[in-house]
Amino acid sequence: MEYNLSRRMGQMRPSAVRQILKVTEQPEMISFAGGLPAPECFPVAEIAECAQRVLAEAGAQALQYAVTEGFGPLREKFAAEMRGRGVVGCTAENLLVTSGSQQGLDLIGKILIDPGDAILTESPTYLAAIQAFQAYEARFVPVRTDELGLIPEALEESILRERPKLLYVIPNFQNPTGITLAAARRQAIYDLARRHGILIVEDDPYGKLRYRGVEIPPIASLDEAGIVLYLSTVSKTITPGLRVGWVAGHPTLLRSLGIAKQAADLHTSNIDQRIVDRYLTDFDSAAHIERIRQLYGARFAWMDNCLTAQMPGEFHWTHPEGGMFLWVSCPEGVDAGAMLPEAIERKVLFVPGKDFFPDGSGQRFMRLNFSNAPEAKIEIGIARLAEVARQALVMAEKA
Ligand SMILES: Cc1ncc(COP(=O)(O)O)c(C=O)c1O
Repeated sequence: MEYNLSRRMGQMRPSAVRQILKVTEQPEMISFAGGLPAPECFPVAEIAECAQRVLAEAGAQALQYAVTEGFGPLREKFAAEMRGRGVVGCTAENLLVTSGSQQGLDLIGKILIDPGDAILTESPTYLAAIQAFQAYEARFVPVRTDELGLIPEALEESILRERPKLLYVIPNFQNPTGITLAAARRQAIYDLARRHGILIVEDDPYGKLRYRGVEIPPIASLDEAGIVLYLSTVSKTITPGLRVGWVAGHPTLLRSLGIAKQAADLHTSNIDQRIVDRYLTDFDSAAHIERIRQLYGARFAWMDNCLTAQMPGEFHWTHPEGGMFLWVSCPEGVDAGAMLPEAIERKVLFVPGKDFFPDGSGQRFMRLNFSNAPEAKIEIGIARLAEVARQALVMAEKA
């Protein structure tokens, strides 16, 4: 049978990370590829307790269909969380519960992007956002970044040239680079977007996972004009398995997002939302997040030490102040993608950088995740990666 798929499917690619994750199952494999939180941080007993309490208290109501906007008490809690992050006026009316932030990205694509619309992104950017917006036939316009994040002057140039519809940005411990957008740049970027009438999609799954430095308020905290849609999630602070996130923004945009969500899944799992709500009510989530921060901070420091000790001097990497990823720059002439088969042979995995660039450039980079592997595995894995790097250097010199 020759299946007659939609035109849009022709543009959609499988996620490189998900392809690589298939190899993770091989025995002895050490993976720095996935974006997986540390499983030892999942509050398994507490979630079991919450599920029992929800079913004991709400019974069949927790298993019934529910409203699209989300479970009321949970929306209230997420709104309070937004106020805590500096978005002072945020109420439940400004908030839609989504099935993970990933659904938020998809719904934003659905309500805003017409085929060919220009979307500005950091370069590189989160590859599943590229996937989500690609489905709506967006035209990606990557904007230059440096160690302080998106460069406002480069952004302005792109705005004037491309007349874009929106800017997609991950200000905290960006996926994939680990870089944080500086406070002054957040203001400059907001001012530019406001002046030129562009929406900002601020994706912040990692903001609570800062283990060094001081917290910087989100761009949404500057928003007086209703131009920022802010996404966050419990995936990295409680568990990704429950698929609960949120979008906060102007009620007019949220109404459209709600209509799009009705068509997508009617509502986010009722029982999952209630479990998250119980967890946030009955347990000390701040103390839990503190444990995650400590663990990730220690794992980053350990990976950084191992890289310093093992990697050839021509390789450099970022030093994130939080989150789960660092970004390695290989010397000119080294193609990180071409290193992957050898790395798989030596039982270590990373994600080649080029999949994070909408224009397919970025051959010289790789993303390493440091949250998921314990220290002993990090040490062995980085030693293997360093062997692959040395071999790649020799090959590059011969070429
Ligand atoms: C930048 C970014 N946005 C969104 C997501 C999706 O998160 P969720 O599990 O809430 O769908 C991720 C997950 O890794 C991410 O890194």
